[in-house]
Amino acid sequence: MARITDRTVLIVGASSGIGAEVARLLARGANRFVITARREAELATVAKDIRAAGSACLDIPADALDPRAAAAVVAAAVEEYGSVDVALLNAGQGPDMRMDRVDVADVSRIMALNYDVVVNYLVPLIHQLRGQPGGGLIAHTNSLAGLMGLPRQGPYSAAKAAARTLIDAARVELEPQGIRFTSLHPGFVATDRISGDGLPKPFQISTERAARHVVRALENEPAQAYFPWPTATLVRTLRTLPTPVASWALRKLAAD
Ligand SMILES: NC(=O)c1ccc[n+]([C@@H]2O[C@H](COP(=O)([O-])OP(=O)(O)OC[C@H]3O[C@@H](n4cnc5c(N)ncnc54)[C@H](OP(=O)(O)O)[C@@H]3O)[C@@H](O)[C@H]2O)c1
Repeated sequence: MARITDRTVLIVGASSGIGAEVARLLARGANRFVITARREAELATVAKDIRAAGSACLDIPADALDPRAAAAVVAAAVEEYGSVDVALLNAGQGPDMRMDRVDVADVSRIMALNYDVVVNYLVPLIHQLRGQPGGGLIAHTNSLAGLMGLPRQGPYSAAKAAARTLIDAARVELEPQGIRFTSLHPGFVATDRISGDGLPKPFQISTERAARHVVRALENEPAQAYFPWPTATLVRTLRTLPTPVASWALRKLAAD
């Protein structure tokens, strides 16, 4: 395990929840941060905490749905610090969404919020990291929901699965150029954004615990990190069951 210290760390989606907590934990390691999200005031608060913990921080409000804004954030990070050593692509959102109640625009919006936001950073980051001595790490906050089509989370599951597949391909292609990829697959995490959304959340963990899992994965750089173990085991087991049995169990788990 290599403790993350004296590195340039870019976190996309750092204004709240898992991303903000990961930033606060890594700030103790005297790193250089570029943090971004849309909400300026929340982002500035996280930046203040990072500086108070002894790390440098550039906070850049930007919408990850805008490819030019994303490329500009990567360029600003390089201009300020000379490289990006660790990038955590964490922006995303998975609201309760039943397939008999959505319209086409809802599904497209969730795809953009969980897939396009990854692509918009992935491409400029790959261009940057392939030119750096020693490459770098690109991590993505996926979800255990990205491993199978979860009821009430269909569009989100699909978008996260697409992101995982894209990153899996990039990992194979770009290993010779020193670019490493880690997909993080949390189960339910008690962040403010999802509290009260009505979804059942078996084995939910705290934001702090999720952030510790993320930091450990950033240090160890596995291709895939699944946590916490009860939810990860549940999802893995469901994937091995015959479809009618898995469907029955998933319907029970997703029932109000
Ligand atoms: N909570 C869970 O149970 C859970 C489980 C598995 C995976 N995840 C994943 O974990 C990640 C973090 O979620 P969270 O639960 O910590 O919720 P969160 O507090 O809402 O964090 C999401 C972060 O992404 C940012 N963001 C969202 N859309 C953005 C955009 N278009 N441009 C720039 N930033 C954007 C948000 O900031 P702004 O709103 O300020 O832009 C926020 O900083 C997500 O990818 C989520 O899918 C969460």
